[in-house]
Amino acid sequence: MDYCNDLLPGLPKKAIMAFFTHQISRGFSSSAVRSAVIKHVTIIGGGQMGAGIAQVAASTGHTVTLVDTSEDILKKSVKGIQGSLNRVAKKKFTDKPEAGEEFVQKVLKNVSTSTDAASAVPASDLVLEAIVENLKIKQDLFGRLDKLAPANTIFASNTSSLPISDIASSTSRLDRFGGLHFFNPVPMMKLVEVIGTSATSQETFDSLLNFSKALGKTPVSCKDTPGFIVNRLLVPYMMEALRLYERGHGSKEDIDIAMKLGAGYPMGPFELGDYVGLDTVKFIIDGWSAMEPNNPLFAQSELLNKLVAEGKLGRKTGEGFYKHK
Ligand SMILES: NC(=O)c1ccc[n+]([C@@H]2O[C@H](COP(=O)([O-])OP(=O)(O)OC[C@H]3O[C@@H](n4cnc5c(N)ncnc54)[C@H](O)[C@@H]3O)[C@@H](O)[C@H]2O)c1
Repeated sequence: MDYCNDLLPGLPKKAIMAFFTHQISRGFSSSAVRSAVIKHVTIIGGGQMGAGIAQVAASTGHTVTLVDTSEDILKKSVKGIQGSLNRVAKKKFTDKPEAGEEFVQKVLKNVSTSTDAASAVPASDLVLEAIVENLKIKQDLFGRLDKLAPANTIFASNTSSLPISDIASSTSRLDRFGGLHFFNPVPMMKLVEVIGTSATSQETFDSLLNFSKALGKTPVSCKDTPGFIVNRLLVPYMMEALRLYERGHGSKEDIDIAMKLGAGYPMGPFELGDYVGLDTVKFIIDGWSAMEPNNPLFAQSELLNKLVAEGKLGRKTGEGFYKHK
């Protein structure tokens, strides 16, 4: 069968091929020309996520300014990055410790730190925020930086649960604002969710996709909807496991075993909750149930609320659904 003539009957085959070649090359070249290459990144927030993203960006040849509220926190962040790089070097350069040390120093050279975001942003292609999960604080930060960053600087948030468009609304660069949602631990996890709002330009979106690839990650494209893809599926799943347990349909242990052995998941939902932090799970579900109070997938769990009120937050506090040594 001649597929060309089936698709566009009546035109000579040569003309059809020329048409497709033109469209394909136009698509490739236009996005290559239009999307800006990100080389220097300012990362605001040097906690778990910010430090992890800084490490990966610096390891892939980007220059990074890591910003946090105090020199002490930044020292801790850089120490953490160095420790993590040492572990990478030990594996990568097993028989060549000197080459390993050289690798660590070379990556660290790409990282500078600052407690003053205002002085860092003017030289940035991208300002990526990984601070506390609080809409007002994120809006204040971006609103302030919007007045200082050059017009072409792209802003992005690593939020897990807040709408990107709500964070972006404090700025005047809605077309140059998107989401880059990384996963913990960042150096290990391959996925990045790239989020475009209805106002994000194609050029910005392409730049964020290309940046994710340049970090050695696999990006997926997401709409600006609660939880994007991964958490939108994962959080209701964890909540449904809780409800199953609350109704007495299975023990925590059996539900965890069932999902590991029956569905091939590396952790059961209760183990996962303790790993993520029950306060984080509650924070996300509280936000979503406030947005969509009638959605049964976002309904509250009495047990989750009780454990969080008692400070039993999972691994980080030594107890959550389970006791941890
Ligand atoms: N932890 C996760 O598994 C995970 C995964 C994906 C996304 N996220 C998101 O990433 C963001 C950060 O999470 P985290 O786990 O790294 O938190 P974290 O508490 O480890 O780190 C947050 C850091 O931001 C700093 N900070 C707070 N306000 C600041 C400000 N105004 N300016 C500069 N620095 C400020 C804090 O001092 C802290 O060092 C949150 O939005 C969270 O939802 C977290």
